[in-house]
Amino acid sequence: MELSSLQELLVENLKDLYNAENQLLKALPRVAKKVENDQLRQAIEMHIKETEGQVDRLDQIFSQLGEKPTGKTCQAMKGLIEEAKEMMGEDAEPDVMDAGLIVDCQKVEHYEIAGYGSAVTFARLLGNEQAARLLAQTLNEEEAADKKLTQIAESAINVQAAQGESGGDGGMSSSRSRSSRGGSKARRSR
Ligand SMILES: [Fe+2]
Repeated sequence: MELSSLQELLVENLKDLYNAENQLLKALPRVAKKVENDQLRQAIEMHIKETEGQVDRLDQIFSQLGEKPTGKTCQAMKGLIEEAKEMMGEDAEPDVMDAGLIVDCQKVEHYEIAGYGSAVTFARLLGNEQAARLLAQTLNEEEAADKKLTQIAESAINVQAAQGESGGDGGMSSSRSRSSRGGSKARRSR
């Protein structure tokens, strides 16, 4: 593939993001199902809805550019999703699982932030304000999703995950904090 212009680089970047978003749309429902924390699940479910809108924005940009969005596989997203699948396959305490899946989701967000950040810059440089505006909306959503994940991790999950590990009373404190949150505990008894 020959990339002789910034315009072509923008299109390639957008194809990568288009494929990445569609991979995510397939993968995120499984992650939402796996997490224990309600706030985290809601945040992921909200981001699935946002992601649908992000794909729509990319569709709009592709039709404006007279280009097709298909034909590229985002290898990075494939790898990041693979890592999340590995995490989901671990036999981990629910709080630790949630903390681990937040890490994986934030890696995804950071990848997208880098991609959309560049795309906004390229679109502006090319004088395509319409595309730049749409891409900036998505960039804002990705940044907000990333911040939200940090907030959820810091406010609850990481603390609970750490308590589960260092509870010096033979695990009593961790089992107490777990049972106080309700929900299915079947997975823990293994
Ligand atoms: Fe996204």
